[in-house]
Parts: sequence; C-alpha cells; structure tokens
Amino acid sequence: MSVLITNIKELLQVREEHVTIVKGSDMKILPTLKNAYLLIEHDTIVDYGSMEDCKAIEADETIDASGKIVLPTWCDSHTHIVYAGDRTQEFVDRINGLSYEDIANRGGGILNSAEQLQNTSEDELYHQAARRLKEVIKLGTGAVEIKSGYGLTVDAELKMLRVIKRLKKDFAIKVKPTLLAAHALPKEFKANKKGFIDLVVNEMIPAVAKEQLAEYIDVFCEKGYFDLEDTERVLQAAESYHLIPKIHVNQFNAFGGVALGVKYKALSVDHLEEMNPEDISVLKSSNTMPVALPSCSYFLSIPYTPGRAIIDAGLPLALATDYNPGSTPSGNMNFVVSTACIKMKLTPEEAINAGTINGAYAMGISNLYGSICRGKKANLIITKAIPNYYHLPYAFGDDLIDTVMINGQIY
Ligand code: NIG
Ligand code: FE
Repeated sequence: MSVLITNIKELLQVREEHVTIVKGSDMKILPTLKNAYLLIEHDTIVDYGSMEDCKAIEADETIDASGKIVLPTWCDSHTHIVYAGDRTQEFVDRINGLSYEDIANRGGGILNSAEQLQNTSEDELYHQAARRLKEVIKLGTGAVEIKSGYGLTVDAELKMLRVIKRLKKDFAIKVKPTLLAAHALPKEFKANKKGFIDLVVNEMIPAVAKEQLAEYIDVFCEKGYFDLEDTERVLQAAESYHLIPKIHVNQFNAFGGVALGVKYKALSVDHLEEMNPEDISVLKSSNTMPVALPSCSYFLSIPYTPGRAIIDAGLPLALATDYNPGSTPSGNMNFVVSTACIKMKLTPEEAINAGTINGAYAMGISNLYGSICRGKKANLIITKAIPNYYHLPYAFGDDLIDTVMINGQIY
C-alpha cells in the first residue's frame, strides 16, 4: 500500500538520517521544503521532494494537501496518562486558595490518585487510559512515554505497567513505558521512608524487570518527596536492571537533582522550573535532554522552565505535556508548543524542534520518529489550510489539524 501526499504548501522538519537531536542555536533552524510531495509505503516515508519532480510517481492513494502544512507528529516524552478518575475537587480547592503543597500535605495529591487507582480494576484503568490516548492521537501525538507511579505498591505498579503494555500492543503509536518507582511516600511508610525505598529497590524494581514492563526509571526528586540520597539508591538499583533514568527534578526546588541525573546518564531530566547556573553547566557535558512541561506551569501557576536560557547556553530542549490528573490534566501538545512560544519565548522553530525531534530523542526513538526523513515512520500531521507554520503557536487554542496519520494510515 502506497500513499502520495501532493501539493504540500510546506513540509516541515525535513532532516538527514543522522540528525537525532538539535541543540543551541541550531534549534532556531527548522528545515522545510515548499510546494512538496511525500511518498509513503506501508508505514514508512520512502521519498519526498519538490512537486516539480513528482510527475512520474504513482501510488495506490493520493492525498491533495493544497494550502496545508505537513509535519511529523508530536513526540510527547513525559506523560502519566494511566490514572483513575480525576482530581477536580483539588482543582477547585486550589482556586479557593490552597496550594499544590497544601493539598499534598493533607494527604491529597498523588496519594489521592493512588487510592483511586488501587480501587480500580486493570480493565477499567485500561479503558480510561485508552480513551485519553485516542484523544491525544487526534491532537497530533504519534509517540508517547507513559509512566507508572500512582500505584505505590508493587501490585498496583505492576497493574499500571501491564495497562501500559496493553496500550502499547493495541495502539499503532509508539509507546515507551517508565517505572516511576518513587513518586510519593505511601501513608503506611509515613515514618519509614527508608522502608519504602527498600521495597522499591528489593521488590518493585526486580518484579518489574522480571516481567520486562519498563525501559526507564523515574523518581520524583523533590523536597517533601524523595531527596538526592533516596533518588540515588533507586537509580543505582535500576542500573543493574538496565533501566535508564528519566527523572522528575527541579519542579519546586533546585538542589542537585540535575547533576545526579547526569551522573547516572539520564536520558532526560524533566520539569526544571527552578534552575541554577550549575544545573545548566552540568548538562553541557552530558547527553541528557532537558525537558520542559509548560502546561504544568500554566495549570499550577508556577514558574516556566527557563527554556530561553537553556537553549542560549547551547543545550537542547524538549517539550512534553506531563498529562496527569494533578498538575496537568491535558495532553495537548499543540497547546504546549504554543505556550512555549508565548511564555518561554521560544521561537516557533525552536518549539517545533523541541516537540518533535528532541521529544523523540527524550524517548530514545529519534532514529525512527520526530522528523521527515526517508526510512522513518510515516507519522504525520496534515494541518488545515493555514497561511504559514507560525499559525501553529500563534492561533493558540485553535484546532488546526486536518488529518493525523500513524504508520502511514489515517487515524
Ligand atoms: O509531573 N511532580 C510529580 N508528578 C506529576 C504530578 C503528580 C500529581 O500531582 O498527580 C508531575 O507534575
Ligand atoms: Fe510528571
């Protein structure tokens, strides 16, 4: 089965095969081709070029993209979309003056989601998450990382990860599973944090590794949650099972989590709303991707990640949603890209690079996803007719997507 997309007003993110990450001033460059065609065979991009060279090409199906822009689907490298129910009451409580911290301190927050999850069957959890996944695909996401972390017991974490495994099997988009082993301290361990880390290290990680349910390891490294010592114990234990770190750091406080992530060769360090000059300098000598989550800043009214300073220091940056019930009940990468431009002062080119190729890098899949390249997966967004690609971040809140294609098939 072959599909030919013709008369593409502008084809974005056209890259050579060897480009798997974009850093610093290179992020300002978004390579494009105007008046282009794109040829797909089965699930793969096999050719593209100028319309002038398209005449001899035949395909089983042709899509006329006159006036429309084509780009790779978004690569959302940080989500928690497997969760039970919602946290709408906490949302209202925050409007009425409580902080995210106040809510956590009175036993709500992550513990609230954990309780709901523990009382939800694996099937029901799957159906709730599948509904969210369908919605984000319609919004243009073609690859997604999904974390556990609302289980907080070995059994409930395994339940979450089995749901992620089922989503991975049932959906055509790329799914990468992460064990978020230490997300919050369960009530039973309130006076015994060491006991919980022992459980994570001695039981949870081995059980997850045995069933091969995760590729990445995550910890919420934050004051009031898990400190550097706890985080290091988890990363050390995970290392022997070849689980690569992708960690929550610097959301509310900067105290060395970035350097610890770099020490353990983290694929990404995520959040970074609070950054010290040392955090930036340690990232310079690493292959670790800094990931910003602007929808979280928006929803919690906390500072935005200093993306401008990160890029201006010569570093790469990826953007992701953080889709979760507490701090970001939204999986809309279009909003993320827009908000990065509006609030973090990224240029449209930087934001699109951060939401595609660098997002793919932060999931270890930029060899096959995140750019328009011969041999890469045909995961594409075809926009509605728009004047230029600036409209993607500019017309925030508008639905500018006409068609989403996953593995060469219209979704
Ligand atoms: O990335 N910060 C830690 N974890 C999630 C939110 C957890 C929650 O509130 O449910 C985050 O923001
Ligand atoms: Fe998160």
